[in-house]
Amino acid sequence: MRLSPVIAAPWLSLLLFCSPPGSAGAAPAAAEVCTACHGTDGMGVGELNVPIIAAIPPVHIKEALYAYQDEARQCANVPAMCEAVSELSEDEINELASYYGDMVRGSSSEPFDAALADVGRDIHERLCSRCHVPPDDEDVGDALGFPLHGQRSAYLRYALDAYRDGSREQLLRKMAEKLSQLSDDDVDALINYYTSYRNRSNK
Ligand code: HEC
Ligand code: HEC
Repeated sequence: MRLSPVIAAPWLSLLLFCSPPGSAGAAPAAAEVCTACHGTDGMGVGELNVPIIAAIPPVHIKEALYAYQDEARQCANVPAMCEAVSELSEDEINELASYYGDMVRGSSSEPFDAALADVGRDIHERLCSRCHVPPDDEDVGDALGFPLHGQRSAYLRYALDAYRDGSREQLLRKMAEKLSQLSDDDVDALINYYTSYRNRSNK
């Protein structure tokens, strides 16, 4: 039986309302290649150095994708990431940024060392909190930096090492100054602090 448009319409809206909670609407075609590594929920699958990208404010997702395209950021560990984004058009980047930006953010929920996390909190508050706020902070969209709280620890370690050994270009002098003050122990403490974070959505 074929439904006339008039009869079909209520069913369509029902279907829309039935999408699972937390899903961010239909995936744009360009997202197909991303799900292999970032997952359908943006939380990352497989290799632990894949970052969580769910609910990163769209402005930061765009900034990162353009930085990969013009090679200011390089995919030192996983070159396939840079290949996947190198040919994206401006429209596709806009679509992907709102798609991932609208998702619900979880935390990596990894184990952490509570004493180190306390030390890390102080360092964060002193050097990093002006630009990096938690992902469920109401000001996250206006913050200068990406949300780091609840991010996967292997990615944080990789990104911090890459900035500190020069393999990821430092785009911001102010952050470079702060990172230059960190010892290896400080980096461990910071990572434990960010890993200790649990989002409101997955405590
Ligand atoms: C082969 C696995 C893989 C694929 C495919 C992939 N990514 Fe990634 N993605 C990664 C890894 C690994 C990184 C970290 C790379 C780095 O900076 O060295 C990353 C980083 C990112 C970042 C930066 C996140 C941050 O916190 O700075 C964004 C945004 C992103 N990916 C979006 C996408 C989108 C959109 C697609 C699809 C068009 C995609 N990725 C495809 C593995 C992948
Ligand atoms: C003046 C603002 C500012 C300060 C202070 C700052 N950051 Fe950043 N941070 C940024 C910006 C902007 C980016 C994104 C730039 C880029 O792609 O390199 C960033 C990116 C990062 C990233 C990569 C995130 C990702 O998802 O790829 C890490 C990790 C990071 N910062 C850690 C720190 C730590 C730790 C401190 C304190 C010791 C700190 N930042 C201080 C602004 C800042």
